[in-house]
Amino acid sequence: MDELEPNKANKDDECSSFNRSSFLIIGDIGIINIGNDEELAKAREFAECFSKKNPNLKGFFAKLSTEGEFRVARLVHLLGENRTNTITKEYGLFFYVDIAKAYYNPRLSEEHRKIALSVEDGEKVLDLFSGIGGFSIHIAHLHRSLVFSNDWNREAIFLLLKSVFLNRKRLKGSIYATSVESGLLIDRLKGKMFFDRVIMNSPTNSFNYLGKAIEILKTGGFVHLYILLPKGIEEITHILPSTFLRLAKIVNIEEVLEYSPSKSIYRIDIIKLSDQ
Ligand SMILES: C[S@@+](CC[C@H](N)C(=O)[O-])C[C@H]1O[C@@H](n2cnc3c(N)ncnc32)[C@H](O)[C@@H]1O
Repeated sequence: MDELEPNKANKDDECSSFNRSSFLIIGDIGIINIGNDEELAKAREFAECFSKKNPNLKGFFAKLSTEGEFRVARLVHLLGENRTNTITKEYGLFFYVDIAKAYYNPRLSEEHRKIALSVEDGEKVLDLFSGIGGFSIHIAHLHRSLVFSNDWNREAIFLLLKSVFLNRKRLKGSIYATSVESGLLIDRLKGKMFFDRVIMNSPTNSFNYLGKAIEILKTGGFVHLYILLPKGIEEITHILPSTFLRLAKIVNIEEVLEYSPSKSIYRIDIIKLSDQ
């Protein structure tokens, strides 16, 4: 499927009622972020204007919010095909997406690639909140690694498995997928399996699982914790559970995405120093 990359879309100066940060292109679908129902008419006008210049886009939706534990978008169909599934591309890899059933944000593609580049061959990686598999598939593409992908949302795991099949000839590593509540999964793995790296990308709740994640980490292994914090944070000291203060250390903190005018999603990289 042809994909229109956001930065390759035709100029939209004349459709200027929304700025670039409120507009996303995923595969052949355009999504306009709006604050409330009152902006619907303006969003429809923008979609009509933008679609004339970008005929590759087949459907347009307004996104009102991202809801619940599964972080699924609340959408209103605006124009064109009323279809929410599509295929998108990140660094040459294909991903099945359904914007009404599972979380996906194309603005994370660089982050997926960045983390995948930091993995080494032979690592055992747990992608604890994998969504449709952005981190997992990039890692298995670049490395002979064992990736365990988990998301409580079965729809996300279904899409991930379809993408694994679609990219199968390009994957060096293996991916095992489960759909279990993360806390429960860690309880089942504890003492039986240890990981070189645990990716915790669920900024609204992943912090609650940090202590448990460190318990299934090998000494010298890393946790990548994604968390919502006020903008402008450069250093953070009080995040590790007190029982892990001597066992783990924060090695890096980085702003990943803007979340709201006052908050951003940060990645905190933590290394496990010892078991006791
Ligand atoms: C921000 S999204 C993940 C994005 C994904 N890592 C990516 O890069 O595209 C957070 C995901 O965590 C999942 N999730 C939230 N709470 C969970 C839990 N307690 N156990 C397992 N998965 C959970 C949601 O279903 C959602 O897909």
